[in-house]
Amino acid sequence: MTRTVDVVVIGSGVAGLSTALGLAATRSVLVLSAGDGSTPWAQGGVSVAYGEDDPLDHGRDTDIAGAGFCDPRTVRVLVEEGPQRVAELIAHGARFDRNADGSLSRTLEGGHSRPRIVHAGGDATGAEVHRALLAAVRRTGVESMTGRTVGLLRSDSGRVVGVLAETGGRLARIEARAVVLATGGIGNAYLASTNPSPVRGDGIALALRAGASLVDMEFVQFHPTALHTGETSGQLPLVTEAVRGEGAVLRDAQGRRIMDGLHPRADLAPRDVVARAIEATMRRDGSEHVWLDATRVAPDLLRRRFPTVLASCARIGVDLVSEPIPVAPAEHFLCGGVRTDRNGATDAPGLYAVGEVAATGVHGANRLASNSLLEGLVFGRRVATALTVELPPAGHGRSHEVMLGEDREPERIRTILSRYAGLRRDAAGLHAAADELATAGTGPLATVARSVVVAATTRQDSRGCHWRSDHPHTDDRWNEHVVVRLDEEGLPTTRELQPS
Ligand code: SIN
Repeated sequence: MTRTVDVVVIGSGVAGLSTALGLAATRSVLVLSAGDGSTPWAQGGVSVAYGEDDPLDHGRDTDIAGAGFCDPRTVRVLVEEGPQRVAELIAHGARFDRNADGSLSRTLEGGHSRPRIVHAGGDATGAEVHRALLAAVRRTGVESMTGRTVGLLRSDSGRVVGVLAETGGRLARIEARAVVLATGGIGNAYLASTNPSPVRGDGIALALRAGASLVDMEFVQFHPTALHTGETSGQLPLVTEAVRGEGAVLRDAQGRRIMDGLHPRADLAPRDVVARAIEATMRRDGSEHVWLDATRVAPDLLRRRFPTVLASCARIGVDLVSEPIPVAPAEHFLCGGVRTDRNGATDAPGLYAVGEVAATGVHGANRLASNSLLEGLVFGRRVATALTVELPPAGHGRSHEVMLGEDREPERIRTILSRYAGLRRDAAGLHAAADELATAGTGPLATVARSVVVAATTRQDSRGCHWRSDHPHTDDRWNEHVVVRLDEEGLPTTRELQPS
C-alpha cells in the first residue's frame, strides 16, 4: 500500500497531536502511532505562567532546574507562548480542576518558586489533555493509522521523504514532504521506567539513521518517586511530585527526613537533587526503596487530588492516606534527544522532531517538573506553523529505505544501561557498558543505549541529571553540549570534547 500526504506525524501524544491540530486546516496530515505514549500517564500537570511577572519566574525556575544549561531563547518561547496554548486547550474542551470561585486550581511541584501547575481529575492531567486533544484532532478529520514505524524514506539528495510502517500485518509506504517525529522518550531502554513499554527511543534511532544528530543524550531524568511495587522491570506507577507539593515528605527506613538540610527547598528541590538523595539513602541502607509519608496531609485532600496514586497504592496493598508508601527513582524523561531548532527542524532535511524526542535546549541538564506537557503544546504548534508557512519541496526520483532494524537481546541491553548509565555513572562503569554493548548489534535499543553511553562518557563533569561520581562537580570547562552522530560503521559516536 502506498499513500501520499503533505506531513506524516509519528506519535499521538501531546506533541504529535498538537502538531497535527495546528496543521489540519492547511495540510494533509497522517498521524501514525503504535500507541498513545506517555502523555495519558502524566499525573502532576501543566506548568504554566500566570500574571505579568510569572513568565520571568517560570523561566528562571526552568533554568535553575536545568542547572543553568538551558537555551534562554527557547525557554522564553516556552514560558511566553505557554499561557496562550493552555487557553486554547481549554477552548478545545480540556477540563482542568478549578477552585470554588471558578479560577484554575494551581499546585506546586519540585523546583517551582510558586504554585503554577494546573491539573485535571486531581492527578490525571495527562489523560485529560490527551482526551481533549484527540477529540479536537478527530473533529478536524485528520487521518490516523495504527502501526509501527519500521523505517524512513530518503531521497537521493538525503531528504527525508516518507515513512515505512507495519500496519495490520502489511507494510505501508507513506510518502510525504515532511516527517515529524513525536515518538517520546527512551524509557524502556532502561529496566524500570514510568513510561509505557512501547516507548523505547525508536525515534532517536530513526533520526540518527536518517543523518540527524543528537545532543545532550547524557541527561536522562529519573523521577524520584515511582511506586516500589516489587517489580524490577517494566512500567512502574508514578507517584506525582504534587504529593510532595501538598506536604508529603521522604523518609528513610528509620523514619528520618531524607531531604532535611540537603537543599533550601527540601522535599521540593529539583528532581535530580531529590532522586540522588534517595539513591544515596538506598545505597547507605542497602534497601530497595525509601518511604513517602503523606500521613500529615488532610485525607480528603489526598483522596480528591490523587485518585490515580491511591489506586496504584491499593493495587499493592498500601494506603497513601494512613501509612508511608515505598518509593524509588525510575527513568522518567530524556532531556536531550534529536537536535532541533525552535521550529522542530533537525539536521536532516525534511525531518522534524517535537516533544520529548526533540532537544530544543529548553530543558538544559534537567527538566523542570510539569514542563513536558507544556513543551508538547508549545513546540507542536511551532512545528505546525513552520510547516504551514513553508513545506519542504516534494522528493523527486528514487527513494531509499532507511530501516530501523531489530534488537537481538533487548533485555541484556536494558540491563547494561540500567547498571552503568543510571543515576550514578563513572568512567569504569561507562567503559564496561561500551564493551558489553559492542556485541549488541545495531538494533534501535542498542543504538539508543550506545548514544547515552558515549555522551555520558564524554561529559566529564556533573550537572543536572548527569552525575559522574568520578567528576562530582560542575566544571565550566565542560560548558559545551555533547553531540552524537553515526560513524561510518553506523555506530553512535561523539566528537571527544576538549575542556576549553
Ligand atoms: C509528576 O507528576 O511528578 C510528573 C510530572 C512531570 O514529569 O513533570
